Amino acid sequence: MILLGPPGAGKGTQAEVLSKHFDIPTISTGAMIRAEIRAESPLGLSAKKLIEEGQLVNDEVILGMLKERLKAPDCKNGFILDGVPRTIAQAEAIKGFADIDCAVSIDLADEVIVERLSGRRECAKCGATFHMIFNPSAKGEICDKCGAELTQRSDDMPETIRKRLDVYHKQTEPLIDFYTKEGLLKTIDGANDIGKITEDIIKAVEVTA
Ligand code: AP5
Ligand code: MG
Repeated sequence: MILLGPPGAGKGTQAEVLSKHFDIPTISTGAMIRAEIRAESPLGLSAKKLIEEGQLVNDEVILGMLKERLKAPDCKNGFILDGVPRTIAQAEAIKGFADIDCAVSIDLADEVIVERLSGRRECAKCGATFHMIFNPSAKGEICDKCGAELTQRSDDMPETIRKRLDVYHKQTEPLIDFYTKEGLLKTIDGANDIGKITEDIIKAVEVTA
């Protein structure tokens, strides 16, 4: 399954719940790149500036990472792609090495996105996502899943959020048409609460299966 949608639409939040529900892994290229940045690897160092500017990372780098990850045994019964593909070129290439059953587009207006992303907190250790108001950790600024400190992503600054939205509309939104033509698109209203969105996605996916 692919989770499509603008930055802050709730892809990561939903992926976490859906992974447990369907017992399949989530592959988030954003999370993979952030891990490379933390490890100060050559890939991480080359991607750092792009991420902080809200730009996309090069298609070849993303596709190389994804292709390798999909070879792991935990992907054999299925997987959730969170935030990938993000360009038509990536979507075309993925057709060559992965079977996609469904592309779920989580729809959300730009004004709501700014509010969602400015209150987001993320656990740097286990990757869990929270929101200070809408989905707080039971332990305040500490992750209630693993006990590590919560942090704010460096690309969640207002200027960068606007840039990411711009990049989304220009480079990623055309994928909605792409997957409509492929007969795989399901659109979900991302303005609902987290539990209702999960229910809607599960219903949409079960119709496809
Ligand atoms: P990535 O990590 O994928 O970021 P993104 O797409 O910008 O999306 P986000 O993670 O910001 O949002 P989300 O939809 O996951 O929302 P979340 O669930 O956290 O990519 C980062 C960067 O990496 C890119 O900019 C690019 O540079 C690079 N990159 C990654 N993949 C790439 C690719 N394929 N090609 C090229 N470059 C790539 O929710 C947001 C907040 O809202 C949270 O605080 C959450 O708690 C809250 N929330 C969620 N749902 C609800 C709800 N229903 N109601 C209220 N609050 C909610
Ligand atoms: Mg995310």
